[in-house]
Order: sequence, then C-alpha cells, then structure tokens
Amino acid sequence: MSAAVVFESGLRSSAGQLSRIVHRFVGLGGRRFSAASNSYNNLQVEVRGSVGLVAIHRPAALNALNDETTMELADALQQYDRDSTIGAIVLTGTDRAFAAGADIKEMANRSFVQTRRRNAGAFMDLFLALRSPVIAAVRGYALGGGCELAMACDIVYASEDAQFGLPEVQIGTIPGWGGTQRLLRAVGKAKAMEMILSGRRISAKEAEEWGLVSAIHANDKVVAAALETAGKIASLSQPIVQMAKAAVNAAEDMSLRNGILYERSLFQATFATQDQKEGMTAFVDKRDPKWTNA
Ligand code: CAA
Repeated sequence: MSAAVVFESGLRSSAGQLSRIVHRFVGLGGRRFSAASNSYNNLQVEVRGSVGLVAIHRPAALNALNDETTMELADALQQYDRDSTIGAIVLTGTDRAFAAGADIKEMANRSFVQTRRRNAGAFMDLFLALRSPVIAAVRGYALGGGCELAMACDIVYASEDAQFGLPEVQIGTIPGWGGTQRLLRAVGKAKAMEMILSGRRISAKEAEEWGLVSAIHANDKVVAAALETAGKIASLSQPIVQMAKAAVNAAEDMSLRNGILYERSLFQATFATQDQKEGMTAFVDKRDPKWTNA
C-alpha cells in the first residue's frame, strides 16, 4: 500500500467537494474570496512565517457566526490548508469573543425545511478534511457554535477570561455543529450532560481541568502563544505532522484494534518519505534535520 493511499483516509472528503457544499448551502456562491488579498468582510487573515492566522472579526455581534462568516471561514481555512508553504493554522477571534455562537438573529425565523435544505452545520465537516494542524486561541466567549468551532480544532489555548458553553437549550434548540459529540469525547458524559442540559458556562480554569483546553495564557498573550506553538509545528515535516494528526483523529472514530492497525500503517508509511530518512540520519549525525516535506 502506498503512503498516499494510507494517508488519505476514507473519512476525509476532498476540499473541493466541501467547498461546493458550503457554496451551495450558504447560497452566496457568487462571491469569490482570497486569503492572499484579505478580501473578507468578517475575517482578518495574515501569514506569519509558515503559519496562517485567521481571526474572526465581527465584534459588534461578538463574532456571531452568520452564513457569510462561516463561508469566509471555510474558504480561508481551506486556502491555507492547500498552501504548501503553510504548516499550521491559528484560529482566533477578538478580545471579547472567540465567537458567541451561530447568528441567532439570522436563523431565528427559518423553518425546519429551510434549515434542512441549507444543511445547517454541514460546513463544520471541513474540519474532518483539514490536514494542517489548527490551534484555537480563545479569548472571551466561546459559546454554542463558537465552542463547537474551538472543539473542532486540534489544540485549544484559552485566555484567562475565556468562557466555554453550549447554551443552545436556553434558546430552544440543541448544539448542531458537533457539540454533543465532541464535548462528550473531551470531558466525559457526566460533565458534558451537565453543560449541555443546563447551558452552564465554564471558566477557562474549569475547561483546562476538564481537558477541553490544553493551556491557559494571559489575555494579551494567548494568540502569541498559539502562534509560537504553531510555528514550532510548522517548522517540522508537513507530511509527518499530518500523519500524526490523522492517527490521533482516528482514535475518535475507530475501535482500539482498528485504530492501532491504522496507526501502524501510517507509522510504516513514514518510511516511504525522505523526511523520515533525513530525521533519523540527522539524529545519528548529531545535527539539525533539514525537512523537505518529501
Ligand atoms: N447571534 C447573534 N447576535 C449575537 C449573538 C449570537 N449568537 N451573541 C451576541 N450577539 C449580539 C447581541 O445581540 C448584541 O447585539 P446588539 O448590540 O445589536 O443588541 C451584541 O452581540 C452584544 O451582545 P450582548 O449585548 O448580549 O452582550 P452581553 O455582554 O450582555 O452578553 C453574551 C454576552 C452572554 C455572549 C450574550 O450575547 C449571549 O448570550 N449570546 C448568545 C449566546 C448563545 O446563545 N449562543 C448559541 C447560539 S445558537 C448556536 O450556536 C447553535 C449551534 O449549535 C451552531
């Protein structure tokens, strides 16, 4: 089996297919965005070295995720994921909010049929297809869809004033962007049930203790910390890092036996790369490796 076959899990849709889904259901398919020219209405994007930085920027609505913002997010994340010069992505918001959820005003009067036809929430499937590691740097509110967005990232850093919650039951609905599934996997059934059934928000400290976030940083340092970690990851071999990410993600979908077999296949496939040869040779030669992503 070739490395490429092992690497491309059947769970992953192609980026192009997802882009078409997003454009079709969001209904704004006529617009064209570009991360390179920063032509977004609700995002600020920039490249820092080998890291793509995506900041949701709709502060008047606490970064509520309306259709336009989710389409722009999908576009920016997919562009950076496809860019061979980008090795990791940082996703953040503004100082008061990572995102206060899906846009309640926009969806309040939609019928069931309209919601279903738009396949609301399907844009989140793009996270199953992203191969670059994504670090969420959460400041302020990460509620509803905002919390779900953070949980879909690979690593979550929180500021001291961050608050996480799935308050959907308080507005007559339930989490719809993966929250019931990812929160349970992150914190276990008892704590997930308490948060989802009551809508209770938790602090950054609780989120760290419960395993939802990996580290807390000062409010004005959390984005810099995420960029630093992303930079370290991006300085490594991209195909090797991506295989490591794929192996960890498989644990959420596979039995232990199948997950171990999948991991073993990926481990063996690393020996088809030049970077495995370079990494091990550099160790033996007592020098720094020079990765070529090959
Ligand atoms: N959608 C639309 N607008 C929102 C919003 C949201 N999710 N969250 C905040 N806003 C808007 C407010 O309406 C307000 O706008 P106006 O000034 O035009 O009135 C502005 O942002 C500031 O918000 P507040 O005045 O409410 O600020 P606050 O400091 O008093 O409260 C808050 C902050 C606790 C986050 C509160 O805004 C809040 O509870 N927001 C909603 C949180 C929520 O329920 N999120 C889940 C949404 S549903 C979802 O996400 C479904 C899913 O699974 C995908």
